[in-house]
Amino acid sequence: MTGRTRVAVLASGGGSNLQAVLDHLAALGSRRAADVALVVAGRETAGALARARRADIATAIALPDSLGEILHAHAIDLVVLAGYLSFVPGAVTERWAGRIINVHPALLPSFGGHGLYGLRVHRAVLEAGARVSGATVHFVDAEYDRGPIIAQWPVPVAAGDTPETLAARVLRVEHLLLPRAVDALARGNLSLDAAGRVRGGTAVAPLDAFSLHPPDDASLVADIDALFSP
Ligand code: GRF
Repeated sequence: MTGRTRVAVLASGGGSNLQAVLDHLAALGSRRAADVALVVAGRETAGALARARRADIATAIALPDSLGEILHAHAIDLVVLAGYLSFVPGAVTERWAGRIINVHPALLPSFGGHGLYGLRVHRAVLEAGARVSGATVHFVDAEYDRGPIIAQWPVPVAAGDTPETLAARVLRVEHLLLPRAVDALARGNLSLDAAGRVRGGTAVAPLDAFSLHPPDDASLVADIDALFSP
């Protein structure tokens, strides 16, 4: 893993977003600009750890006060939060400012913030009667779920949706957005400037995108690819 951006993925859940990043980087092969060098979970039962071990990637269980030290010890360049439910200390968000991102299963700043994670997000979207949800990839700063947005993609809310069916439709888009954001950051096609503005692929899909792209539509991938093309 020489010369490429060293990525740590922090995950407390099943790790499907971690898997999407691993699969995307593997598909890029020698063209990839990053490697996942470490997977950190808040608890041993995280499915993400099993996925990391299957891919022969270093793993760690980190409590908030040891997280910075573990990331430093593994010479991590880019931190990716993907369903990480533990607290990320300010010392880490400051030290990796502009190099720490998160994926959230809604269109931030709506339906984000403390207590809104996992199925709770989709339940809140349905209870609000929202017609559109989506996924957001954003830089992480000191304020939970409020860092500068890198990319978003809308996902339709269908009549009769349950939190689970909506979650599955949004997750499909998360799996497309997050790996491309990781690659664009590693490639330098995307960055956070000193004024806190996102430079590079900050396009937000035209809201009619979802009407053209049911999540199983093959051109969805091409259009999300285009979102990150310099
Ligand atoms: C994803 O929906 C992510 O947006 C949210 O938690 C879920 C993690 O799922 N933060 P997985 O562990 O990546 O499958």
